[in-house]
Amino acid sequence: MSLPFPSLHTAEASLVLEASGHGSPLWRHLGARVDVADLFPLAGSRTPASFSLDADVPAALSPPAGLGWFGPPAMALRRGARACVAVFDDVTAMLDGQTLRVVSRDAAAGVELEQTIAADQGFTLSTVLRNIGGDALAIDWLASALLPLPAGMARLVSWRGRHNAELVECTEPMPQQAWLREGRRGISGHGGPPGVFVLGEGATHHAGLCLALQLAWSGDNRIAVERDDEGCWYLSAGAVPQPGEAVLAPGECWTAPDALVAVSTAGRNGASAQFHAMVRARMDWPGGVMRPRPVHLNSWEACYFDHDADRIVALAEAAADVGAERFILDDGWFKGRGDDRAGLGDWTCDPVKYPAGLGDLAARVTALGMEFGLWVEPEMVNPDSDLYRAHPDWALHLPGRAQPTARNQLVLDMGRAEVRDYLFGCIDRLLRDLPIAYLKWDHNRDLAPAGGAAQVRGTYDLLARLRAAHPQVEIESCAGGGGRSDAGIAAFTHRFWTSDNIDAVSRVAMQRGFLAFLPPEVMGSHVGASPAHATGRAQALGFRAAVALPGHFGVELDPRALAEDDRAELADWIAFHKQWRHLLHSGQTWLGDGADGLVWQAQGSREEFLLFVVRTAPPLDRRPQPLPLPFLDAAGAVDLRLLRIAGGGHGHAAHSAPLFDAMAQGGARFAGSWLARAGLPLPPLKGESVLILHGRAAA
Ligand code: GLA
Repeated sequence: MSLPFPSLHTAEASLVLEASGHGSPLWRHLGARVDVADLFPLAGSRTPASFSLDADVPAALSPPAGLGWFGPPAMALRRGARACVAVFDDVTAMLDGQTLRVVSRDAAAGVELEQTIAADQGFTLSTVLRNIGGDALAIDWLASALLPLPAGMARLVSWRGRHNAELVECTEPMPQQAWLREGRRGISGHGGPPGVFVLGEGATHHAGLCLALQLAWSGDNRIAVERDDEGCWYLSAGAVPQPGEAVLAPGECWTAPDALVAVSTAGRNGASAQFHAMVRARMDWPGGVMRPRPVHLNSWEACYFDHDADRIVALAEAAADVGAERFILDDGWFKGRGDDRAGLGDWTCDPVKYPAGLGDLAARVTALGMEFGLWVEPEMVNPDSDLYRAHPDWALHLPGRAQPTARNQLVLDMGRAEVRDYLFGCIDRLLRDLPIAYLKWDHNRDLAPAGGAAQVRGTYDLLARLRAAHPQVEIESCAGGGGRSDAGIAAFTHRFWTSDNIDAVSRVAMQRGFLAFLPPEVMGSHVGASPAHATGRAQALGFRAAVALPGHFGVELDPRALAEDDRAELADWIAFHKQWRHLLHSGQTWLGDGADGLVWQAQGSREEFLLFVVRTAPPLDRRPQPLPLPFLDAAGAVDLRLLRIAGGGHGHAAHSAPLFDAMAQGGARFAGSWLARAGLPLPPLKGESVLILHGRAAA
């Protein structure tokens, strides 16, 4: 290897390795940007430690677990019942611009590993393992990333969740021993994308060192932070295949899911900005560019399974009247689907509910000036379906064992080509026969029995095939709300349904969790009914709309059920969203907290942005404290216009002051440094209200 210190640099970070004779490159640094000129060799700086091997085995890109590396393993391999320890002794590193490719071979073990690290906004790590031996090679573990954490990291931020309570943020100190987040349900799960944020001492949303990782993977996975006895923390992450699943015949290879790694010195927001850029780069929009996100009306909470052509046409007319641009017919349209007990698998229109067929319905929707979208749940089958009666063996099962149902359904074995062919046939026919612009692709249960990596890859394969055949069709990933929102499936989809819980108070924290990993334009956020179906809590329409506004906006109610003034207000919010979506969906997102329970987010750029200041609970302080907006520190002068105060209900009118009146009329000018450090003065906000401001750098 001719490069002594193979290194990659982003604007904020450096990844530095050191050539190690013929072995796997050693880790020197992953963290804030450094200069590698005059770098001293690692060996010259490592003192011997007692009770250690005589030959030093420092952390390497792929260290020799079982032969001197005692930290977390990069891989665990077997040939039959024997452990196969790869000690790479033939390594080539090639740096091509911002991409480093390291090919490591151990001819004796019969293992070749190709690791590619591409640097742009962050680092994307790709790993392929090839069996170059003469007999079968079993992979029990292959890390997508095994990274040393920079010294001085202090906290871990992760998310957990369940159906209707996605993305609950958890912050904890660095572990003394180990920390683990493992998904075993076959989908990425309601805790959000498989990932973690690691924060340096004192790091905030806005400042300080933050290293974050997410796997581009929608199945079982393991993310661990472990401390070794040298005191260093290692972050490892990878997909978890089923036992015995990853067995390579000679010449075969196994591709680990990509690991997206964001390293920022601008805190959590800096890391999220890198994630957003990396996820945006993986997405495949029809025509190559994202169009303005059309406002949805989705039929589910408007009528659940209780619909027919008349009701849906009336709903579609009401949707068009308030300004919706895409109408999605949710669950219940296909044969036998009067409730959730039957029909999944048989993707033909219910002739009783829709005697003139879906073609007629779709034509009526498109005649209203809206796109037509359709709900499907391709990977599932009800035992009460023609498909199951014809092919009971197509559902995932273990011979001789029970097949646990969930929501009365089983999971099709997506690893089988004939299953994928059948599903391609069904969906392709729908897309060919009908003017469908959009599929809401659902997945309403955990996997039991497990489907392993084959299930995930089978689904990706089907999605890729459908995308290739129908490149103009956009797809939403949904799994009982946000059970499958991740950068893996993002390569084939264009939106995520964030949660079946549309309660705006619940949504505030959930959406912030979502935005940690994924950009706002793919965050499905709807105005739901009041009281919210998931929680029973009632909220003002303005509050519900303002909380939904930053994402891919939509409506999840029947506008005809609203009083006339509410319906007019909904139409007004939709128009407001259309006016501002270009700012919301193309730039950066900054999240922050204020005093007394306030949270805020800004979207756009430092030159022009929308700012949302959200108060969920009523204030406790007599007067609102100013709100520091650190992202504006270097912005020069900023003109702020108060666009709306949404929600806040009835009762006493909120007090105003001349400054806020001026901000609401022509706007007011502030120094960026004042806004960043002293803070934006705020009018009083009631519980469940959102202040929306427009900011623009002064010319
Ligand atoms: C899931 C989705 C809902 C809806 C139903 C239909 O729960 O999250 O939005 O589509 O399925 O059965």
